[in-house]
Amino acid sequence: MIKNPTTPSDTITITLDGQPITAKKGEILLDVARRNGAFIPTLCHLDGLTPYGACRLCTVKVKHGSWSKFVTSCNYPIWDGLEVETATDEVNQNRKLVIEALLSRAPKAPVLQNLAKTYGVTTTRFPNLDPAEKCILCGLCVRVCDDVVGAHAIGFVGRGQDRRVGIHINDAACIGCGACSYVCPTDAIDMESVTVGHFRDRWGEDRPCRYSLMGLLPGSVCHNNYECWRCETDQTIMDLCQPVHPVFVARGIDNAGVRSVIRKMSVMIPPDHEDCDDGSTDEATAGQQSPPSDT
Ligand code: SF4
Ligand code: SF4
Ligand code: FES
Repeated sequence: MIKNPTTPSDTITITLDGQPITAKKGEILLDVARRNGAFIPTLCHLDGLTPYGACRLCTVKVKHGSWSKFVTSCNYPIWDGLEVETATDEVNQNRKLVIEALLSRAPKAPVLQNLAKTYGVTTTRFPNLDPAEKCILCGLCVRVCDDVVGAHAIGFVGRGQDRRVGIHINDAACIGCGACSYVCPTDAIDMESVTVGHFRDRWGEDRPCRYSLMGLLPGSVCHNNYECWRCETDQTIMDLCQPVHPVFVARGIDNAGVRSVIRKMSVMIPPDHEDCDDGSTDEATAGQQSPPSDT
């Protein structure tokens, strides 16, 4: 007999912004709130990755009787009778403070500049150490490289004010997938300058296509100097995998159906495929294209 995984004892009731809703005991508050239409901004959260609770932007207020507390909703499991406030003046004031703190750390991050505009943050009372900084130390790049790609090529280095993401801590392990750049919410990782250049040097003339290293196009070779932005194969695979990065598809985390399509492509494309152009610029596209950030 097939059992219904949700038993009556799993179902609980919480109050979300004044409205009673039902959910499953232990579900993560952010998921439940979003499913029920609440808007909670996030920066360090990505479905499929272990919550890290680093940016604190998703902070909401939870209450029960006379007890109340601010919590990060992306890693807070709900329980029966919980009351949640996601957008009161008090919650928004707290969010503004978080944005101020993030902005002081990474004033060049476009996403923070937009958030500051949205929440009316015009100045920050915290000191800034580097006016050119974009990284907020959210850890998404490290988690995706560890948990999805499995390459363990980057990690945090340093302590306190010197803490930062070490892009080249294990260059030999990097497969050039670009997932770190793709998930970075602040555009802090430029693949061309931090990873692809090293990737070229590492492989010399014998260059495996990065989709081959991801396991999507077995045995393919790049004839395009790793300039993926002008490669038809790259564009086709990116389009097929939308809205996720191909490495999520390669690892079976999302768009599982797409994998079989790419496998069929891999049958059509010989291992030493030449469908990338040879480096000469197509007149029709001259001057129009620039490297996307997810290369
Ligand atoms: S390009 Fe891929 S393998 Fe290399 S550091 Fe980024 S996520 Fe890791
Ligand atoms: S580089 Fe980007 S993804 Fe990595 S920790 Fe910094 S902000 Fe987060
Ligand atoms: S999204 Fe929850 S702490 Fe960053």
